[in-house]
Amino acid sequence: MGGDEEIAAAEEEEEKMVKIGAYGGRVRMVSSLEDGAAEEMLLLWGIQQPTLSKPNTFVSQSSLQLRLDACGRSLSILQSPCSLSRRSSAMGLTQNVLDLMRKDLQEMKAIVENMIEVSKRINESHNKFTKMSKGVSFESDEKLLECQEKSSIEILDFVVDEDKPSDGTPGVTGAVLWDSGVVLGKFVEHAVESGMMVLRGKKVVELGSGCGLVGCIAALLGAEVILTDLPDRLRLLKKNIETNLDGDFRGSAAVNELIWGEELDTKLIEPLPDYDVIYSEGAVMDLLATLRELCGTQTTVILAGELRNDSVLEYFLESASKEFIVGRVDQGQWHPDYCSPRVVIYVLVKR
Ligand SMILES: C[S@@+](CC[C@H](N)C(=O)[O-])C[C@H]1O[C@@H](n2cnc3c(N)ncnc32)[C@H](O)[C@@H]1O
Repeated sequence: MGGDEEIAAAEEEEEKMVKIGAYGGRVRMVSSLEDGAAEEMLLLWGIQQPTLSKPNTFVSQSSLQLRLDACGRSLSILQSPCSLSRRSSAMGLTQNVLDLMRKDLQEMKAIVENMIEVSKRINESHNKFTKMSKGVSFESDEKLLECQEKSSIEILDFVVDEDKPSDGTPGVTGAVLWDSGVVLGKFVEHAVESGMMVLRGKKVVELGSGCGLVGCIAALLGAEVILTDLPDRLRLLKKNIETNLDGDFRGSAAVNELIWGEELDTKLIEPLPDYDVIYSEGAVMDLLATLRELCGTQTTVILAGELRNDSVLEYFLESASKEFIVGRVDQGQWHPDYCSPRVVIYVLVKR
């Protein structure tokens, strides 16, 4: 490329950098034209080069608690990796590894069943021997029987529990933290501290709050936050709010059930929020339906997603950019200690 072409390309790129909604930084516009979303995905992979094999950088999903310093506090977020199903998936085990583990367990079960069978036979011979010994009983008989009755192995059927968003079934997603939640929470803190965003006194509705880290940070920064999730995720969410938002802090936090795509509680839309903070781009059409209802033209949406499933993100961008102006926040504007090539942050405002 010659000098003039380079200047023209730089100018063209510069034109795509715009300010959207209440976020003060300049973001890169995602085109609403037919190929806009596909072009954005190509760019993302070129710029961020995410390594998909790498596990999470900031969270350990198999532990019960994550500590994170934010807003001058040490936050303690409880996780609930409570079943083997959830834990194995949370550790990022692939279906292949799980299949191998299942096979090993089945082999172990066969061995134990065999041992039980052998011990039964020994017991039968032992009983015969006892009878032959004219009523002389052995105390160990009963113990052996008791032990046989207790010896059974349950094979837990574990699966890689991908985001199962819209049917409300329990899954791992809302019970553990994700890197993008940490990145988004620290981004929001950084944006407020660097004067790019004002949260004090603003109404924020968080969608898919999960363990509640982002909502807690927003409340500590002065926002009036309503944290929302599927009904079965709200207990852990409330616990994390109680644990972390004690004492004096500037904003407020309330919890509300919200299933994407379903009718919204009036508390959420009257008045319409100033900000929506969202974490996941799953269940695209339901999420967009909720955004449509929740957002006015003065509502700024901040969305973080993980580059785990390109086609979902591409579909989301393609659908969202028809109704919203969408801009990607460059990593240079994130919290410098909380950047990850696997995470993306977008700002959206209704057209
Ligand atoms: C990937 S997790 C993110 C959790 C959380 N923001 C965090 O940082 O830990 C996605 C969240 O969206 C919620 N979610 C998924 N589908 C949903 C739906 N249809 N309606 C409401 N919430 C949903 C999940 O329960 C989960 O908490």
